[in-house]
Amino acid sequence: MNTKIIVALDVPTLEEAIALVEKLDEVSFWKVGLELFVSTGPKILEELKSRSKRIFLDLKFHDIPNTIAGACRVAALFGVDLLTIHAVSGRDTLKAATEAIQAGSASSGIKPPKLIAVSLLTSISSRQLAIDLKIPIELPEYVLEMALMAQEMGLDGAVCSPQEVAQLRDSCGSDFLLVCPGVRPTWAAIGDQKRVFTPAQALKAGADYLVIGRPITASADPQLAWKKVCDEIAAVV
Ligand code: C5P
Repeated sequence: MNTKIIVALDVPTLEEAIALVEKLDEVSFWKVGLELFVSTGPKILEELKSRSKRIFLDLKFHDIPNTIAGACRVAALFGVDLLTIHAVSGRDTLKAATEAIQAGSASSGIKPPKLIAVSLLTSISSRQLAIDLKIPIELPEYVLEMALMAQEMGLDGAVCSPQEVAQLRDSCGSDFLLVCPGVRPTWAAIGDQKRVFTPAQALKAGADYLVIGRPITASADPQLAWKKVCDEIAAVV
């Protein structure tokens, strides 16, 4: 069983999600994102927990400190393993989020989720960062600055593209969790992702977890695609 791969459960309904989880029985770590959570609410988390699955609740919070603190306090009660917030929410919000998670879990006794900062969406290219978002520094430097700010504010890790993972590992140390979407086996379509590595390359570069969605879930044969990814990384883990 491969514990380094988190499969993105990007489907619109509870029924489709459960069908996929049952079909891919060997997957132990699932990512619940916005589409599914907006559709099902916490029900999908209960379903996954009842099957002893680990959960990455990828809601990518981005709001003012008070609102985020409330959302994190409630999210800490779900008993999920990973939770995301945009680093660009800023220092005050990141700090409020870490404090709220600790407070939520201290009052409930439920193990707190690891709070992970989204450094920059992997669908954003250098050109879009400069031209659309008007950010006047190079993309790798921006990603590093976001990760360092998150670390300083007490977060447990960052989401980054595999292309930035080696630099973040060097600068943030071995305890900082690095979670990489934007992973594409050579046989899969790139789609809207821009900064991609293969699964083996991403792990070799220092990623703790790989998030893989469509190459597995949208494949004509998801079980075969999962097996191919596991075989590919078996040599490096
Ligand atoms: O299908 P694909 O492999 O591109 O799925 C990647 C998943 O990772 C999606 O659910 C997407 O929301 C998520 N993600 C991302 N980039 C980030 C953070 C999360 O692609 N920076």
